[in-house]
Amino acid sequence: MNAINRLAAVISLATLFPLAAHAADAKGNVEVVHWWTSGGEAKAVGVLKQLVEKDGYTWQDSAVAGGGGAAAMTVLKTRAVSGNPPSAAQIKGPDIQEWASLGLLTNVDAVAKANNWDKLLSKTVSDTMKFEGHYVAVPVNIHRVNWLWVNPEAFKKAGIAKAPTTLEELYAAGDKLKAAGIIPIAHGGQPWQDSTVFEDMVLSVMGADGFKKAFIDQDEATLTGAEMTKVFTELKKLKTYMDPDGAGQDWNLEAAKVISGKAGMQIMGDWAKSEWSAAGKKAGSDYECVPFPGTQGSYTYNIDSLAMFKLAKKNDTPGNNAARDDLAKVVLEPEFQYVFNQNKGSIPVRNDLDMTKFDSCGQASAKDFADADKAGKLEPSMAHNMATSLAVQGAIFDVVTNFMSDKNADPAKAAKQLYAGISSAK
Ligand code: BGC
Repeated sequence: MNAINRLAAVISLATLFPLAAHAADAKGNVEVVHWWTSGGEAKAVGVLKQLVEKDGYTWQDSAVAGGGGAAAMTVLKTRAVSGNPPSAAQIKGPDIQEWASLGLLTNVDAVAKANNWDKLLSKTVSDTMKFEGHYVAVPVNIHRVNWLWVNPEAFKKAGIAKAPTTLEELYAAGDKLKAAGIIPIAHGGQPWQDSTVFEDMVLSVMGADGFKKAFIDQDEATLTGAEMTKVFTELKKLKTYMDPDGAGQDWNLEAAKVISGKAGMQIMGDWAKSEWSAAGKKAGSDYECVPFPGTQGSYTYNIDSLAMFKLAKKNDTPGNNAARDDLAKVVLEPEFQYVFNQNKGSIPVRNDLDMTKFDSCGQASAKDFADADKAGKLEPSMAHNMATSLAVQGAIFDVVTNFMSDKNADPAKAAKQLYAGISSAK
C-alpha cells in the first residue's frame, strides 16, 4: 500500500468509527489506580467508568489485584517516584495527608465548592479529604469492618439456631459446624485479613475505648496489658476454627466458600457483601450480617477515597485535568452513590440519600453508624489504613501474622512484640 492509499484507508476507517470515541479521546483521559478486582468490586467500579464515559471522557483502568491494597500502594509509590503518577488513586485515611505533604496531590476545591461538599459531608470525613484546608481527595463510600457473615443454610445443617452474639457462642457454633463437616470460618491467611480479624477481637475484648487506646493513642499499658494478652489468647482459639486450606487465599475466594455452604461464616468488612450480591444472593434470607460477636454498638469504619494527583508534564493538558475534575464530581453525585454502594456493600458517604433503597445489611450499617457516632463508639479501622500511618500498620501486621502462623505462639509475648514493633515504626 503506498502512502496515499494508506491515508485513504485511515480516513475511511475513521469515518466508520463512532464519533463519540473520538470526542471522548479529545476531551481528556482519567487514569485511576485502585484495587477493586473481585467480581463484585469490579462490577461496582464499572459504574464509575460508565458515568465518566457518559460525560465524554476516557477512563483508563489501572487496577492492581490484592485485597486491602498493599500491592496497589507499592505500584503507586513506584510510579510517583518515577514521575509518572495516575490522575487519581485509591488512598485512605492519614495516608492522604502524607501523599499531600510530599507535594504530589492537587486540589479540587473548585469542584468541591461548586458541588457543596462542605455541606454534604460530615466534618470528620471532609477533614480527612483536605490538606491544609484544601480538598485533595474525594470520599467514595463508608465500609463497616466489624461484621460476621453467616450462611443460614449451613447453620441449619449443623443444628445451630441463631447467629452468634458472643465469643462463646461463636466457638460453640464453630464446634457444631466442624461436627457437621463444614468449615466453621472461611479465612484467607494474608496479613491484612489476619489483622482485620485481630482488630475485631480487640474491639470485642477491650471495647471501643480500648480499641482507641491501642490503635490511636498507641498507649503502652493498653498494648502490653492483660487484656491484650487475652485478645491474642482468643485469637489463638479462633484460629482453630479457620479454614485449614486458607493459607495465602484471597478474601473473595474464601467468601465463595461461605456462599456455596462449604463454610459457615466469614469475618470480613462489608465489601464481602459485594460477592454475595454478585452471586444473586439476598441479605436477610440467603445470608445474614451481624456485628462481630461482642462488638455490638461499636462500628469500625473504613472510608474509601480517591486522591487526586498532579499530572506529569506530558499528561498535563486541560482535557486531562477536566477529566479528573469530572471524576471528582461524579463520585459524590447521588446516581453514583446509590448504584456503586449497592454493588459494593458499603453505604453512601453523603447522608442525604434514601436508605430504603438499600438492603437490610445496608440499612443496619447506616443505623449502627449513626448510633455508634452518638455513643462515642465510632472508630477508624487500623487494618484498613484509617487509624495509623502505614509504617505503624505494617509493624502490627507483622506481629499478628507471625502469631497466627505459629501454633506455639505465646499471647503475652505477642502483646510485648506489638508495643515494640509500633514504637520502632513511629
Ligand atoms: C477497601 C475495600 C476493598 C477491600 C478488599 C479494603 O481495604 O477499603 O474497598 O473492597 O479492601 O480489597
